[in-house]
Amino acid sequence: MKIVLAADHGGFELKEVIRKDLAQAGYQVVDAGCYSTDSVDYPDYAEKAVERIVTGECQRGILICGTGIGMAIAANRHRSIRAANCFDIYTAKMSREHNNANMLCLGARVLGTEVAQEIVRIWLTTEFAGGRHALRIAKFSE
Ligand code: RB5
Repeated sequence: MKIVLAADHGGFELKEVIRKDLAQAGYQVVDAGCYSTDSVDYPDYAEKAVERIVTGECQRGILICGTGIGMAIAANRHRSIRAANCFDIYTAKMSREHNNANMLCLGARVLGTEVAQEIVRIWLTTEFAGGRHALRIAKFSE
């Protein structure tokens, strides 16, 4: 599985932690920026990551900003994106099982680092349940 990561300045430090975790766990990772804590605009980085999913280069994406909210709003403007802003293990698990989320959004100013790391681990290893959930997703997403 190839995963694209992107963050704004608020999410940069957590992105670095997650990038190292993913590499260590053997995932292929594309780092779409940003590359420092200099102030940038989250929609630009959401777009860079979304592009990698839409083209099929990456299967999943993780977007990090201060709250996860801006990244989720921006990414979900694309019909094929199902971006879930998750705050705990349960929402991370459900976003995969029920919503087949292909992007995970994290709020670096909201979550502790270890909680965020665990959310990522669960999100990447939980399968979509399909069935009735697939029918529901087909009503709004490709
Ligand atoms: C940047 O200060 C902040 O607004 C951004 O990281 C994010 O939280 C937006 O939703």
